[in-house]
Amino acid sequence: VGAARHYHENIVDHYENPRNVGSLDKKELDVGTGLVGAPACGDVMKLQIRVDENGVITETKFKTFGCGSAIASSSVATEWLKGKTIDESLSIRNTDIAAHLKLPPVKLHCSMLAEDAIKAAVRDYKAKRAAAGGSADEPK
Ligand code: FES
Ligand code: FES
Repeated sequence: VGAARHYHENIVDHYENPRNVGSLDKKELDVGTGLVGAPACGDVMKLQIRVDENGVITETKFKTFGCGSAIASSSVATEWLKGKTIDESLSIRNTDIAAHLKLPPVKLHCSMLAEDAIKAAVRDYKAKRAAAGGSADEPK
């Protein structure tokens, strides 16, 4: 997993060329969607995951209507999510993202948005699976 976390090393590149920008079809059963807002500034982030039958995240997309730090945080989060199980994904901390991007304290809430969005996407995925009668892979 350590290698996957450093799929690429150019942090500045997350600002200039954010990864995984776009949308998945939120109606698809294997897609989880998290939509969260930051009360501090009103910025909004949508983060989506596609999960395979083993509970592993195979695809991620985000759209962030917010500051550059929020966009870069989403970009890092979507890279770190790939290859993780949905439960492993919950161990991604905003403080790790902030440290990775060297965010100043005033920008910590931007990375918090990414952590919140991951949790919301996982919740959405599990709720959808439960509603469809399928067993959510990792019961919570
Ligand atoms: Fe992109 Fe580490 S620099 S995830
Ligand atoms: Fe609010 Fe960055 S200033 S998300």
